Amino acid sequence: MAGHHDGHHHDHQHDHQHGHSFDSPEAAAFLELEGEVLAGFVTQATAVLTGLAEHRGLEVRRVLDLGCGPGVGTTALAEAFPTATVVAVDSSPSMLERAGARAERLRVAERIETRAAEFPDGLDDLGTADVVWASMVMHHVGDEVAALRQVRALLAPGGLLALVERGGPSRYVPDDVDLGRPGLWERLDRAWGDWFGDMRSDLPGVTPSGDYVAMLGEAGFTPVADEELTVVLDPPLDDRARRFAHGRLERMPTQLAPHADPDDLAVLDVLIDEHGDQGILRRDDALLRASRLLYVASA
Ligand SMILES: C[S@@+](CC[C@H](N)C(=O)[O-])C[C@H]1O[C@@H](n2cnc3c(N)ncnc32)[C@H](O)[C@@H]1O
Repeated sequence: MAGHHDGHHHDHQHDHQHGHSFDSPEAAAFLELEGEVLAGFVTQATAVLTGLAEHRGLEVRRVLDLGCGPGVGTTALAEAFPTATVVAVDSSPSMLERAGARAERLRVAERIETRAAEFPDGLDDLGTADVVWASMVMHHVGDEVAALRQVRALLAPGGLLALVERGGPSRYVPDDVDLGRPGLWERLDRAWGDWFGDMRSDLPGVTPSGDYVAMLGEAGFTPVADEELTVVLDPPLDDRARRFAHGRLERMPTQLAPHADPDDLAVLDVLIDEHGDQGILRRDDALLRASRLLYVASA
């Protein structure tokens, strides 16, 4: 863990996330850019969730957004549930600050509260909610089933949990583009899997992560919906999408170095070169393909 310490030793698991700490204004700005470029995920997921809530006659007055990050989900939830207060919860002050500013800017601040808490311990005193939203955060908790049980205890009778986790790997160029040795992206996917395994094995109280449907069942939830969400942005990408793609690719060499083939890492260097014609900021065929898994479950 060399190089990335910012003095928050009690937060040591955060330093493994994507190879850097989440708690910085830069990390918060980047995650907001990601959330906005991939806004389709939040739009699709909140549409599924509001449809289910309506169908089940669930009156939504209080929503918890666990691991809210810069608040892209939080503000979308406030818009999707106009009678609800949304509590944005995160361990990172930089993320909470960004989420608060976003709420002001989008004029939903009067229905948004921000709250600092570190999971899993901090899950227990958040108060009850009709909807809990946990996007891309559960995998940062060592014992996910135990944390899901704690989340279940927060839900009012009939309340819904929406869990969003990573789906298939993201892509930034077409599959058939001539870059590096054939099978480049599949090898990098495997290297990412190794990195992810290492990241998880360092979490306190870690247990092997199972399939989320199975873990939700083990935690006492009843599965309601289970969908793959996809966002595809075709070429030509706009500047913000290119900056996001560049930011993701830029992290990969450090993150994957212990696990990946040096030739494959050299291809990443070409893609992240800001001045080269082959770089992601300039090439004509740059695209974005990403996927998430949405699980909705009732308490
Ligand atoms: C990948 S971001 C997801 C942000 C947002 N929910 C989204 O889907 O885009 C994960 C967020 O969870 C927060 N986080 C990670 N581990 C946490 C923990 N143990 N307790 C509280 N927050 C945590 C991080 O600070 C970060 O803001």
